[in-house]
Amino acid sequence: MATTGRPLGSGRLGGFGTTIFTEMSALATRTGAINLGQGFPDTDGPAEIIEAAVAALRAGRNQYPPGPGIPELRRAIADHQRRFHGIELDPDGEVLVTTGATEAIAAALLALCEPGDEVVTFEPYYDSYAACIAMAGATRRLVTLRPPDYAVDPDALAAAFSPRTRAVLLNTPHNPTGKVFTRAELELIAQHARERDVIAITDEVYEHLTFDGREHVPLATLPGMAERTVTISSSGKTFSLTGWKIGWATGPRALVAAVQTAKQFLTYVSGAPFQPAIAHALGLPDAYFESFRAGLEAKRDRLCAGLEAAGLEVFRPAGTYFVTTDIRPLGEDDGHAFCLALPERAGVVAVPTVVFYDDKAVGRPLVRFTFCKRDEVIDEAASRLAGLRG
Ligand SMILES: Cc1ncc(COP(=O)(O)O)c(C=O)c1O
Repeated sequence: MATTGRPLGSGRLGGFGTTIFTEMSALATRTGAINLGQGFPDTDGPAEIIEAAVAALRAGRNQYPPGPGIPELRRAIADHQRRFHGIELDPDGEVLVTTGATEAIAAALLALCEPGDEVVTFEPYYDSYAACIAMAGATRRLVTLRPPDYAVDPDALAAAFSPRTRAVLLNTPHNPTGKVFTRAELELIAQHARERDVIAITDEVYEHLTFDGREHVPLATLPGMAERTVTISSSGKTFSLTGWKIGWATGPRALVAAVQTAKQFLTYVSGAPFQPAIAHALGLPDAYFESFRAGLEAKRDRLCAGLEAAGLEVFRPAGTYFVTTDIRPLGEDDGHAFCLALPERAGVVAVPTVVFYDDKAVGRPLVRFTFCKRDEVIDEAASRLAGLRG
């Protein structure tokens, strides 16, 4: 009974259970509430990308593609990194196609970390980070980001590093806060990484979603960082095709080879017919990326206005799909209880930010909403939430 009664045990994955996104999306389905919990768009990406996948399916591109990804996609990823970030990569050896950013994160941590190693990361954290650090047998060392601006505290950052630090895991633009790390903050992180000879793993899936003219700075572009950074991104968010799960890891040959070693035993290869379609997508003109960004910026404004009108304190995001709020102006302070009751009270689903914090006191009153939805859905959610004030 010991093994079947508690299959996850108290070991590496004990306590991880079902992700909050699954739980909250199921709640939305069950109650018919508007789902502003999970970050997936309710309209598909450009038809021409979908047509490219259909053509690939019909052209028989349905068997195992090459392990590192098809050459045309690896070239397109390298071209994208040069075009938008000035990063030079050899598509043969410095680019790996993965099953979403999720697999790239898992493979990087499993390949690069050993039991006993420490990984410095920031809370609130994307939930797969904690699980993958645990699967690698490593330990997370957290730097807490606090509203309203979620700035990096230099002392807390310094204190998180130790002789056991193997890697720093960074997400910018940052889910769930919507923070875009500033160049100065990144420089500070880079300085610690260089001085302590630590690997950096950066998750940049929202690289094309920065607002109000802010720049996205890939950590790999800072001095001394290209040789120690695995940069991860994905087509899911940028092309509103989150179900396709085509992501990538790029960086120096030795690090990418290590990630590929883990990747080949996780999924072996990734979505054959989607790869040529994403190669096409990455080559879309600048106008696509600009209108995508501007469209999400307008949606941010739309939802923020609605949340403010509903009486929540809104921390206006600088990037991503998400906005975090503080529910205390409504006279409540338990974000988890608030989110469980919200479908019934207002017909809306949101995510309690506390699940992304180890420091529960900081996260307790915070609630995250996504604005990657059609305008009419955002407006309907806002009008339902307006009733909370009363
Ligand atoms: C910060 C972050 N990283 C990674 C992912 C997952 O990306 P993918 O769907 O490409 O695996 C997400 C999705 O929500 C995310 O928010």
